[in-house]
Amino acid sequence: MQNFVFQNPTRIIFGQAAEKKVGEQTSLYGSKVLLHYGGGSIKKYGTYQSVIESLEEVGLEYIELGGVKPNPRLALVKKGIELVEQEDIDFILAVGGGSVIDSAKAIAVGACYEGDVWDFFAKDITIKKAMPVGTVLTIPAAGSESSTSAVITKLTGMYKKSISSELIRPKFAIMNPELTFTLPNYQTACGAVDIMAHVMERYFTNTKNVELTDRLCEATLKTIIDNVPRVLKDNQDYAARAEIMWAGNIAHNGLLDTGRVGDWASHGIEHELSAIYDVAHGAGLAVVFPAWMNYVYQHDLARFAQFAVRVWGIDPDLKDLDWTACQGIKKTKEFFSSLGMPVSLPELEIPADKFEEMAAKCTAAGPRGNFVPLTKEDVVKIYQSVLN
Ligand code: NZQ
Ligand code: ZN
Repeated sequence: MQNFVFQNPTRIIFGQAAEKKVGEQTSLYGSKVLLHYGGGSIKKYGTYQSVIESLEEVGLEYIELGGVKPNPRLALVKKGIELVEQEDIDFILAVGGGSVIDSAKAIAVGACYEGDVWDFFAKDITIKKAMPVGTVLTIPAAGSESSTSAVITKLTGMYKKSISSELIRPKFAIMNPELTFTLPNYQTACGAVDIMAHVMERYFTNTKNVELTDRLCEATLKTIIDNVPRVLKDNQDYAARAEIMWAGNIAHNGLLDTGRVGDWASHGIEHELSAIYDVAHGAGLAVVFPAWMNYVYQHDLARFAQFAVRVWGIDPDLKDLDWTACQGIKKTKEFFSSLGMPVSLPELEIPADKFEEMAAKCTAAGPRGNFVPLTKEDVVKIYQSVLN
C-alpha cells in the first residue's frame, strides 16, 4: 500500500425528502444563488419546485441558468461566469447529474479568474480559487457530487477535457433516491456502467498489498450488479435505487483510491468518443472498458482472475489462469449488454475514420494509463477491436 492523504469534506445528506434541506444547507455558504440545471427534467418531475420552495423558505435570492446539455459545453459555462459577475452571485447550486455539476464547478473556477476558464482545461494551471458549489443529485453516475473533477466540452476543435482540484469539491450533496425514480432505463444503465468503470479504473492497479480497497471495490461492483437489474424492472424500487445512489458516490469519492494508483486509460479513450460523437459517457464506457480489458489483461492474469472469481463468481480453473481471467471480461461485457448498453462502435453509429485523431488527442500528453501505459498505436488498436 502506498502512503496517502484522504479527506472528503462533502457533506452527504441522503434519503427521502433530503432536497427539502437545500435552503438550510445553501444558507451556510451564500446569500445569492446561481441555480444551475439541465434540459428540463427537474421541472418536469417536481424537483425544481421543491428546491425553490426550500431556498425561498430561508430567504435566499436566486438567479436561474438552465440548459446544461449532457457532455456540458464551454459556451454555457462562460454565460454562467458572466451572470455570476453581473448579479453578484456568491454560491452555485447544481440540480441535476454530472453534466450540471461539472458545468457549475467550471463556472465556480472561471468566476474567480481574470483569463479564459478554458486555460485550466487546456494547460496544466493550478486552480487557486473557486466559488462554493452545492448539489442536488438526480442521477447516480459520474460521482461529481463529491469528486474533485469536472469535465467540459469545447465544440471548437471537439475537445472534452477535465480539471481537478480539492477546491471544486462540492460543499454538500443532497441525495434522495426517490428523485431517480424518473430516470429512463437507458440513463440508469449508463450511470451503472460509469459507476462500475470508476471502480474498475481503480481496481486494475500495479500497487501491491491493497487488500482492503480491493474488497471495497468488489463490494461496490457487486452492489451495482445485484441492484441495477432490479430497478430496470421496477423504476420505483427505493431500496435498490438507494444502494445504487450510495454506490455511485463511494465509487468516486476518493475512498477507493486510498493507497493505490488507478489506471484511467479507459476514461481517456471514452472521452474522445463523447467529444466528437456526443455519446453518453456511460454508453461509451460500455464499449471501451471490455475492449481495454481484453487488450491488457495478460499484464496481470492473477488480478484479472481475482476479479472474475470474486466479482463474477467464476469457478476458477487453477491450471488455466488465462481462461479464468477471460471469463471475468466476458461476464462484464455480457452484463453491460444485458442492461441495454452498446458493446461495439457500430451500435453507437461511430465509424472508423477518426481513430487516428482520437488516439492522438488521447495520448497528446504521453502514454495513457498506469496499469499498462498505452501509446497512440495501442489506443487505435483498442478502437479497432470494437468495430464489430
Ligand atoms: O438535462 P436533463 O433534462 O436534466 O436530463 C438529464 C440528461 O438528459 C437526464 N436526467 C438526469 N436526472 C434525471 C434525468 N432524467 C429523468 N429523471 C432524472 N432524475 O439524464 C441525462 C444525463 O444527465 P448527465 O448529467 O449528462 O449524466 P451523468 O451524471 O452521467 O453525467 C455525465 C457527465 O459527467 C462527466 C461525463 O464525462 C459526462 O460529461 N463525468 C464527470 C466526472 C466528475 N466530474 O467527477 C467523472 C466521470 O467519469 C465523468 O467523466
Ligand atoms: Zn466516468
